[in-house]
Amino acid sequence: MTGGPTIRMEANGPYIVTGPITILDADGREHRVAEGHTVKLCRCGHSAKKPYCDETHRRVDFVSRPSFEPEPTER
Ligand code: FES
Repeated sequence: MTGGPTIRMEANGPYIVTGPITILDADGREHRVAEGHTVKLCRCGHSAKKPYCDETHRRVDFVSRPSFEPEPTER
């Protein structure tokens, strides 16, 4: 694996983002994730601390796709 940023999909859980990467909110505020550090971003939509995961996905029994599906193409 490279030292660059990665996003890993946790089965039935969040996106795990490993830095270095900068996340910008809708107002342009930055959250910098240092190289090798991680943050978990909510994928279930139920976190009270969005965009971060607060483990609520476990309580709501979130079920995710286990892997990538082809992205729909538009014509
Ligand atoms: S993925 Fe963990 S609270 Fe949504």
